[in-house]
Amino acid sequence: MRFKKSISQLIADQKRGSGNELKRSLGPVNLVALGIGAIVGAGIFSLTGIVASENAGPAVILSFVLAGIACAFCALSYAEYASMIPVAGSAYTYTYATLGEWMAWIIGWDLVLEYALASATVAVSWSSYAVKMLEQFQIHLPPELTASPFDPIKLADGAVIHGGIINLPAVFIVAVLSLVLARGTKESATMNNLLVILKISVILLFIALGWSFVKTANHHPFIPANTGQFGHFGWSGIIRGAAVVFFGFIGFDAVSTAAQEAKNPQKDMPIGIIGSLLVATLLYVTFSYVMTGLVPYTAFKGDASPAATAFAVTGYHFLSSALIIAILAGYTSVILVMLMGQSRVFYSMAKDGLLPSFFSDLHSRYKTPWKSNLFFLVFVGALAGFVPISDLGHMVSIGTLFAFSLVSVGVIILRRTNPEIHRPFRVPWVPVVPLLGIAVCVALMVGLPLNSWGRLFIWMLIGIVIYLLYGKKHSRLRNEKENL
Ligand code: ALA
Repeated sequence: MRFKKSISQLIADQKRGSGNELKRSLGPVNLVALGIGAIVGAGIFSLTGIVASENAGPAVILSFVLAGIACAFCALSYAEYASMIPVAGSAYTYTYATLGEWMAWIIGWDLVLEYALASATVAVSWSSYAVKMLEQFQIHLPPELTASPFDPIKLADGAVIHGGIINLPAVFIVAVLSLVLARGTKESATMNNLLVILKISVILLFIALGWSFVKTANHHPFIPANTGQFGHFGWSGIIRGAAVVFFGFIGFDAVSTAAQEAKNPQKDMPIGIIGSLLVATLLYVTFSYVMTGLVPYTAFKGDASPAATAFAVTGYHFLSSALIIAILAGYTSVILVMLMGQSRVFYSMAKDGLLPSFFSDLHSRYKTPWKSNLFFLVFVGALAGFVPISDLGHMVSIGTLFAFSLVSVGVIILRRTNPEIHRPFRVPWVPVVPLLGIAVCVALMVGLPLNSWGRLFIWMLIGIVIYLLYGKKHSRLRNEKENL
């Protein structure tokens, strides 16, 4: 017997009003800002330089366009779902309604890779920029307290030793943002709006001021010749580049985890998801055009702060401080929204009985899943503080691509099984568009290193054991159906 939630049941569950509901406090502007908050971060500020120097040259612009189009296929599917089933939980909830409980568990568990791991990954990058900024004010943290036990650290005399004690600034930012989230969704959204305004203003300032310094010569050759190796310039470089900058687009789906907190989800969810993706794509394309136009792409090789290198030629020195502030604001909002998404997915899973009710208990006054926020403070904080994050970025990508594919599969299935349900937003040309979404996701997954597949497999195995030992026994739906 397949344990599948009906759409009407999902919506009824959410309307029932047991007093354990999230507050509907987010309008369309907040939702678009939430998306931009989660999307614009490490992708634009560091991957642009890496891909330009290693894979695509100035054609990194095309890598961004390609990855943006790939994400758009999936974003349309998310928008259809989020407007049709406006409940928290995103891909997890959608899968419960289409492919059943087993697959829903798999996807919910998989989303930890996207949300919790992305928070930890970006927190570690945040830490390195925070240390840089503090140094500008002559505040020097002991290096052992700014790196995990597995990361190399550079001492003041230039010597490199292996292994710090803990990455304290990374733990700090995770802790602060978890506490903000526990305090209230509206407060978190307000903070996110401010961070988004700050990072977007600085990005726009860079584009506007940098534009007149763009040299056409730096854009030639636009697609440098392939070196003979796949992924090293030429068209294959653009494709490999798209797989790398995909990380920069992760986050638009986090909007859909907040469906239950949207004031008018049917109308505003598609606006939030597609709108934020569109804004981010435009920013990425224009930003990378200016960046690669300022200096030759070869100047970015091995450069940890490529945007600063590019803008040094403008002579606007205040921009380098502004850049660090924008990067810190950008990373902060990514961590904030990712942590929020994570707690909302576990909230939904706990409400369904697949996880202990600890994760769905709401604070009596703030109406937030505060215990879950505190749990992830410890979990993500430990990852950020002690684990070398360098190659975990690949796990974030593989986990996200897996979720995106399942959402696209779900749209096709649900159009067949439940054609009668009102869909305020419809993906055009079903099944062509979702099939294209699946094809692109699978292609990008295949391009990821083999060890990330191995780790995905191990993570899933752990999830399956937990489901068999706990979720299966406590599932609300399963118990209700079996007792009929
Ligand atoms: N898209 C997010 C970033 O680029 C994860 O940081």
